[in-house]
Amino acid sequence: MGKPKILVTRRWPKKVEIKLSETYDVTFNDTDTALNINDFCEALKKYDAILPTVTDIMPKKIFETTDIRTRILGNYGVGYAHIDISAAQSLGITVTNTPDVLSDCTADITLTLMLMAARRAGEGEREVRANKWEGWRPTHLVGTKLTGKTLGIIGFGRIGQEVAKRAHHGFGMKILVQNRSSIDPRILSHTNAVQIDKINDLLPNIDFLSLHCPGGEENRDLIGSEELKLMKKESILINTARGEVVNDNALIYALKNKIINAAGLDVYNGEPNLNKDYLDCNNAILLPHLGSATNETREAMGFRVIKNLNEFFSGKVPVDKVS
Ligand code: DGY
Repeated sequence: MGKPKILVTRRWPKKVEIKLSETYDVTFNDTDTALNINDFCEALKKYDAILPTVTDIMPKKIFETTDIRTRILGNYGVGYAHIDISAAQSLGITVTNTPDVLSDCTADITLTLMLMAARRAGEGEREVRANKWEGWRPTHLVGTKLTGKTLGIIGFGRIGQEVAKRAHHGFGMKILVQNRSSIDPRILSHTNAVQIDKINDLLPNIDFLSLHCPGGEENRDLIGSEELKLMKKESILINTARGEVVNDNALIYALKNKIINAAGLDVYNGEPNLNKDYLDCNNAILLPHLGSATNETREAMGFRVIKNLNEFFSGKVPVDKVS
């Protein structure tokens, strides 16, 4: 049997592309532009494996294609809400993801956003670049401290736990968590965290809220106007999870009307076409989905996909099989 035929939907770090080509018959998407639905339907007929990433929307419709050859989708990324998992599963297609290797970097970008939002770094940077800085004064761009404050975390998986470590051990923050299942008390004890059952009981008692739950329909609009109203008006919302977890109109209203103090966002509904009203919110820090964007992590994500493929094609169950 020849080498399995693999399609990589976007450019990957060079080292990983080279490694992948040593074992497989690989087609790279040299244009590095997103594939559309038709491209995916064609690809499913042609390749043994497709390696999509977080921006590749793979709805039920594409799995209705006839003569599907693909047996595994090796997703480059931890989140996989962009793939209709049950449709893939019903055809016996294995789906894998890349957990663990991006937890540090996603936690780092969360702390970046917390600090930037709390210390008004976006406003300050824009002022300097616009040549509008008039010099130091006691009342200039005064923000708020992280140290000693309370951080609420929704979703206490690997990334949430890394955020808690940084916030608790680095900034002495008190940690409250909300998670759909109960967390092992030993895990909570690493950061002296307290689990709260209901989101609505968490929100009034925190200074920062950071989202680390999965995206997809189950968590769409988890944070909307009612939830934002429950938060303190000094509080700051951070989203490095998925855009759909927050209702855009509700958040934009809350930012413009000072229902909450500020927000730090790395992910958006319909990205990269984010709701343009965010651009008018001076109190929003807006990053372009940089959570995992370091050399080390992007390479580790690619090597993790290769590991999953190697396991699959040698007849084992890949360690990161999600369906
Ligand atoms: C993921 O892997 O799901 C991240 O959003 C990419 O940074």
